[in-house]
Amino acid sequence: MKVTVVGAGNVGSTCANVLANNGVADEVLLIDIKEGLAEGKALDVWESAPVLGYDTRTVGYTSDYSKTADSEVVIITSGVPRSPGMSRDDLVSINANIVKEVTGQLVQYSPKAKVIVVSNPLDVMTYTAFLTAKVPAKQVFGMAGVLDTARFKSFIALELNISVNEISAVIMGGHGDTMVALPRYTTISGIPITELIDEDRLNALVARTVKGGGEIVNLLGTSAWYAPGAAAALMAETILKNQRRIFPISCWLQGEYGLKDLYFGVPAILGGDGIEKILELKLNEKEMELVNHSAKSVREVQKVLVDMKLF
Ligand code: NAI
Ligand code: 2OP
Repeated sequence: MKVTVVGAGNVGSTCANVLANNGVADEVLLIDIKEGLAEGKALDVWESAPVLGYDTRTVGYTSDYSKTADSEVVIITSGVPRSPGMSRDDLVSINANIVKEVTGQLVQYSPKAKVIVVSNPLDVMTYTAFLTAKVPAKQVFGMAGVLDTARFKSFIALELNISVNEISAVIMGGHGDTMVALPRYTTISGIPITELIDEDRLNALVARTVKGGGEIVNLLGTSAWYAPGAAAALMAETILKNQRRIFPISCWLQGEYGLKDLYFGVPAILGGDGIEKILELKLNEKEMELVNHSAKSVREVQKVLVDMKLF
C-alpha cells in the first residue's frame, strides 16, 4: 500500500515520518516543488528505519508525479502558512493555485486515491481539491477536526490528570476561530465531561482549543506541525486499515445540518472508501446557531475562491 504526501515541509515531513513509523504502508512517498527537499527528508526518515525497526520504504521526488501512481491515499500539505501582513485573500489566492495544480497531477496518476487536504484555509482548500479532482465527494476531505479535538483532549487530560485515551470529543465547523466545540458530546470513559469539570473551567479549555493554532504560532513564529502531521497520518492509517473510525472531518455537505454546497467539519465515519457516512447529531438551538455562524464564515472565504474564477 502506498501513501503520497505532497509538501515536504514541516507538516508533510512529520506526517511521512509518523506513517513510516506506524508501518501501515509499504511505501511513503514525499513530493515537493523545492529541489532536493523531498529526497532529503525521505532519505533521513528511511535511515531511521534500522534504528526504529520498521520496513516502510520512504522515498522523495521533486515534482515528478508519475512516481505517485497508484497511491491509495494522498495527503496535500503543500502551500504557505499565513504570515504577518498577509491578508486572508492573499493566502487563499496563493494556496488555491498550489492545491489546484497538485491535485490535478495527483488525480491523473491515482484517480481512485482518497485525498486528505491539510493546506489552509482548510475547508476552502478542500473544496478547491474537490473541484479540481472531479471524483466522488467521499474521496476528498479535509483534516482539521482530528487536530482540533486532539488539542481539546490534551488540555482536558492535563486538567483532570488522566490519560488522553479516556477522552472522546466532538468539534464541528470551519477550521478557525468559529469552530464549535460540543461539550454535550464530550465524555470521559462514558461520563459526561460536565460532571467532572465546572462550566467556567470548561469554557476556558474550549477557548484555549479554539485559539490552539494561534498559541503555537505565538510561541514558534510559525504554525504547528507535530500534531497536524500526526493527525493526517492517523486519518491515512484509518483508511488503509478500513477501520471505520469516527472523526470530525471537513466533508462536502449536501443538506446535512441544513447546509449545502460547502466543505465543513462534521462527525463522519472514515473507512476504506473514504467518507463512509456523515453523522447528523441532534444539536440544540444554541449549538445550531454557532454552527450557522461558522458556516457563514467558511462561505465568506469560499466566496474569495469563487471570485478568483479558477474553475
Ligand atoms: P511549510 O512551508 O513547512 O511546507 C510547505 C511545503 O509546500 C514547502 O516545502 C513548499 O516547498 C511546498 N510547496 C509549495 N508549493 C508547492 C507545489 N506547488 N508543489 C509541491 N510542493 C509545494 O508549511 P507547513 O507548516 O508544512 O504547512 C503546510 C500547510 O498546512 C499550510 O497551508 C498550513 O497553514 C497548513 N496547516 C494546516 C493545518 C490543519 O489543521 N489543517 C495544521 C497546520 C498547518
Ligand atoms: C493550526 O491549527 C495553523 O491550521 C493550523 O495549527
